[in-house]
Amino acid sequence: MNILLLGSGGREHAMAAKLAQSPRCSKLFIAPGNAGTAKTGVNVKIDIMDFDAVAAFVRDNKIGMLVVGPEAPLVAGIVDYFRSRSEFKGLLTIGPSQVAAQLEGSKDFAKEFMQRHGIPTAAHRTFTPSTLAEGQAFLETLRAPYVLKADGLAAGKGVLIESDLGAAKASLAEMLGGKFGEAGSRVVIEEYLDGIELSVFALTDGHHYVMMPAAKDYKRIGEGDTGLNTGGMGSVSPVPFADKAFLKRVEDRIVKPTVRGLREEKLDYRGYIFFGLMNCGGDPYVIEYNVRMGDPESESVFPRVKSDLVDLLERCAHGMLDRAILTVDQRTAACVMMVAGGYPERYAKGALIDLGTDAPDTQLFHCGTALDDEGRLVTAGGRVLCATALADTLPEALLKSYNRVESIGWEGKYYRRDIGQDLLKMMV
Ligand code: AMP
Ligand code: GLY
Repeated sequence: MNILLLGSGGREHAMAAKLAQSPRCSKLFIAPGNAGTAKTGVNVKIDIMDFDAVAAFVRDNKIGMLVVGPEAPLVAGIVDYFRSRSEFKGLLTIGPSQVAAQLEGSKDFAKEFMQRHGIPTAAHRTFTPSTLAEGQAFLETLRAPYVLKADGLAAGKGVLIESDLGAAKASLAEMLGGKFGEAGSRVVIEEYLDGIELSVFALTDGHHYVMMPAAKDYKRIGEGDTGLNTGGMGSVSPVPFADKAFLKRVEDRIVKPTVRGLREEKLDYRGYIFFGLMNCGGDPYVIEYNVRMGDPESESVFPRVKSDLVDLLERCAHGMLDRAILTVDQRTAACVMMVAGGYPERYAKGALIDLGTDAPDTQLFHCGTALDDEGRLVTAGGRVLCATALADTLPEALLKSYNRVESIGWEGKYYRRDIGQDLLKMMV
């Protein structure tokens, strides 16, 4: 079967590498892709938000499966677009419907869903510009720190955590006053959860699910988790503190009720679901749902998946995940992200990249890379490349990954040297 994968990041490169391994995959296309996916399959220049253009490509290239990487096309209804047209009846589309994608597209929708299905999450209330005064009064009833979230998609920038009541009230006024545009026309205020974060993933057909490997990502730019938030500076899978007993609680208290909720509410969801969790003293709480895989979690999760991914996705699209088994490599994967100096603020593009030398059990995934007019590999984004290594232990995986990272060069390259260090400290 011919497969079209939408997206252009490291997540998509990691997915593409896994899809391409399958004997079931004939031709793999990635739209728009990056310089790495161009080697795994064929990149196609299409605007993935232009569904008519995607449809024309699907039609002309006899695509049998459409896999959607990022959230934006899902929240905009790409799955409904294809499922509602008889011409595409045979096309297997991986992702939730537009309504189900509201689990990521609207924080308020997600919170209400969790409340209806008894899923543990921080207590919350939602406010609009006309209820600003109530919102500010509500803040007075809470204890610091205060968590304010723009309701809609805000590219990871819509969450503010304020330690001061005055600042929290001012931020609420700013958000409802249009600071985040339409995404902030409603603001969720919620209780602060004190704990340690991790990312749990499942593939669901809306009735059944299979658990994917869990991962931990590193969001801040600076070592010791300091500085600005980024799209992710590295990841590790499995997560040492998420032992069997903890993951069973996650499954029983969160994954099962979520899938039951999808079924009861007749939400069409055939794709990945990402549970952003807080482990509070051994009890898991949902911070957020995402309706896609994580990035850079994918870069440590997919290298551990041993099962045929095309086969799994096919079962998912057909609602037959009850018969699926996911085999996972028991080794540890560590992924270190290399970014352009200055990221996540101003940074340069177009620097020539020297890819260094390959190493065993190590994979290099491209994020923001491109080929220049002369066919040379250059930086084309903030997050540029990441190296994932597999090994029997976390220290070995980190060592291999860092060795690979150090062999790569371009002007302005930056990476955190402390990926996984917090986990190592916890383990001793
Ligand atoms: P979100 O976009 O909902 O994932 O929030 C972004 C980040 O803010 C999360 O990754 C957490 O680190 C933090 N965060 C969100 N909600 C809470 C909460 N209720 N308590 C503590 N931290 C939170
Ligand atoms: N790594 C967090 C995310 O993909 O949203």
